[in-house]
Amino acid sequence: MDFKTQILQGIPAELPLKKTYPKGINRAPKRKDILSVEEKQLAIRNALRYFPEEWHAELSVEFAEELNNFGRIYMYRFKPDYEIFARPITEYPAQSLQAAGIMLMMQNNLNPAVAQHPMELITYGGNGAVFQNWAQYLITLKYLAIMTDEQTLHMYSGHPMGLFPSSKESPRVIVTNGLMIPNHSSPDDWEKYNALGVTQYGQMTAGSFMYIGPQGIVHGTTITLMNAFRKVLKKNESPKGKIFLTAGLGGMSGAQPKAGNIAACITVAAEVNANAAHKRHEQGWVDILVDNMDDLLLRVKKAQKNKEVVSIAYIGNIVEVWERFYEEDIYIDLGSDQTSLHIPWTGGYYPVDVTFDESNRLIREEPDLFKEKVQASLRRQTKAINKHTARGTYFFDYGNAFLLEASRAGADIMAENNIDFRYKSYVQDILGPMCFDYGFGPFRWVCTSGKPEDLDKTDQIAMEVMQEIKEHSPEEIQLQMQDNITWIADAKKNNMVVGSQARILYADAEGRSKIAKAFNDAIAEGKIGAVVLGRDHHDVSGTDSPYRETSNIYDGSQFTADMSIHNVIGDSFRGATWVSIHNGGGVGWGEVSNGGFGMLLDGTTEAEARLKKMLFFDVNNGIARRSWARNEGSLFAIKREMERSPNLKVTIANLVDDKLLENLF
Ligand SMILES: NC(=O)c1ccc[n+]([C@@H]2O[C@H](COP(=O)([O-])OP(=O)(O)OC[C@H]3O[C@@H](n4cnc5c(N)ncnc54)[C@H](O)[C@@H]3O)[C@@H](O)[C@H]2O)c1
Repeated sequence: MDFKTQILQGIPAELPLKKTYPKGINRAPKRKDILSVEEKQLAIRNALRYFPEEWHAELSVEFAEELNNFGRIYMYRFKPDYEIFARPITEYPAQSLQAAGIMLMMQNNLNPAVAQHPMELITYGGNGAVFQNWAQYLITLKYLAIMTDEQTLHMYSGHPMGLFPSSKESPRVIVTNGLMIPNHSSPDDWEKYNALGVTQYGQMTAGSFMYIGPQGIVHGTTITLMNAFRKVLKKNESPKGKIFLTAGLGGMSGAQPKAGNIAACITVAAEVNANAAHKRHEQGWVDILVDNMDDLLLRVKKAQKNKEVVSIAYIGNIVEVWERFYEEDIYIDLGSDQTSLHIPWTGGYYPVDVTFDESNRLIREEPDLFKEKVQASLRRQTKAINKHTARGTYFFDYGNAFLLEASRAGADIMAENNIDFRYKSYVQDILGPMCFDYGFGPFRWVCTSGKPEDLDKTDQIAMEVMQEIKEHSPEEIQLQMQDNITWIADAKKNNMVVGSQARILYADAEGRSKIAKAFNDAIAEGKIGAVVLGRDHHDVSGTDSPYRETSNIYDGSQFTADMSIHNVIGDSFRGATWVSIHNGGGVGWGEVSNGGFGMLLDGTTEAEARLKKMLFFDVNNGIARRSWARNEGSLFAIKREMERSPNLKVTIANLVDDKLLENLF
């Protein structure tokens, strides 16, 4: 049966044979066994409702087996036999081009070259799911294949609730992931309701079909490093020969040396796991591997002297590097840490003076002792960092809970007021005030023809648009514009495309709209095929997350979720092709509300009207909220936008003289 026929049949008419799992595929970890016997029965009852009754006896045994072995029912038997990847859009069976664009993006998120655990429909982050099971996948793709431009598919955490009549202007798909009644949103609730098959963790771009591989994290890290250097370097000084010291060469942390090379500095990344370091070296993500301290010192001094752009992986513990560099008087310009301190007791952070293997033994056999060692190591690391920062090093937290765990370990990490930390996080100090507050965020697009030439053409178009905008941009955003012009000019050279022909580019509201309009024109003129627009959720407006995206909001509203909800509703009636809103993503279930969109550009005047309305709101919603929180860059950006757009009227905050408050209470 060919690909199109298989899509159109949805759940097959005949029960497919039971499958054995192929070898060598990265499998999702076994989930917590959290359900009672009655709840396990409910999970089976829930799973069987996708299938005709005559299959139930056979499937119930198999699903019970999956639940026992994996903690979830993935319905592996129903995984289709065709290859899953982003095909050219014309290869999808569809009545609606918009729906075909969505199928393409879903398949990209499940492509084994892109997805972390493709058999379990997990795209990234260990638990970022596109669907909970293969039945949901089959039914959803069938709905998308038969739907018209006057219907909308409503998806509840991967479950296709159905096609409902709507209009041409409506989104084709509405996605919700992991939404819970707030008092039932603890991490164990996720385990339980996910195991029951009624909710899923969509992470950020996994559950909204907008993941494009590691390119996104490299660009974000590059922007962070470039701006961090600007905070510490004198005008006209370059990062060449300056040191960025960090830890971790794992999933996301592995992007650091690549980003350091693009930002043109010396990156020293310590990694205790030799396999992880070798893997990054083989993949070309880090230039040099060093496995002893003396060689590291020699190589770093040479790189400093010759003002090199180079990335060096040190196979060893980060604490040793902070300490020895101090003794050797090696000046560190930027310091950070990307060990997995969000999970410190299970291998996220390896303590100094304990070998990697011994640590792994302690984790299993002496967890209390391991915890003590981790905390002692964090105190030592902080002490060494503090000595460097006293000399002038700029240290920032990279969203990995370093400051939090160091404080819990009793390290000397608190500010004088004993409320704040000594150091800021990358969003508080860098991405928030320099990018998000002005509207710059991770805009992205996918060329649905699948042709690399189309991606080249869109890179060129985007660069020309950015260059033109920069000409008349105010001083306040000149640097941001230049960084993004540099990024897009080198994008192809950086060779980061995995899966679909996709690109990421930090752009503001004006940039995103103008680039999208130029793409739509190029499609109309037949120069390129249709394009899907989207963005990461780690952006200006889409995400309320008090310890990350909205950590530089200081009016108390960082603990509210209004912005992300307004964003998804606002985008949905302004022309998005699909919208999504999720509980959880990056920092954890219950900790963040985040949403995204996708928009298919097909070269029509309708697409032009949609992109103008929606992209304007999608960015300015967040700028308005950030300006109401009195953020300086956003006050500037929203006033400027109101001058350009007479229909925009935003409530502007009056600033208060703090002296007035001193003796009030
Ligand atoms: N945007 C963001 O906020 C953002 C971006 C990237 C990563 N992060 C955070 O960074 C952390 C790392 O993410 P990841 O995907 O790379 O995780 P990962 O677990 O794949 O990688 C972390 C690496 O650190 C190494 N490591 C642990 N302790 C060490 C030590 N003392 N010295 C040297 N190496 C050590 C581990 O061996 C591991 O390879 C996570 O907490 C993640 O949430 C946040």
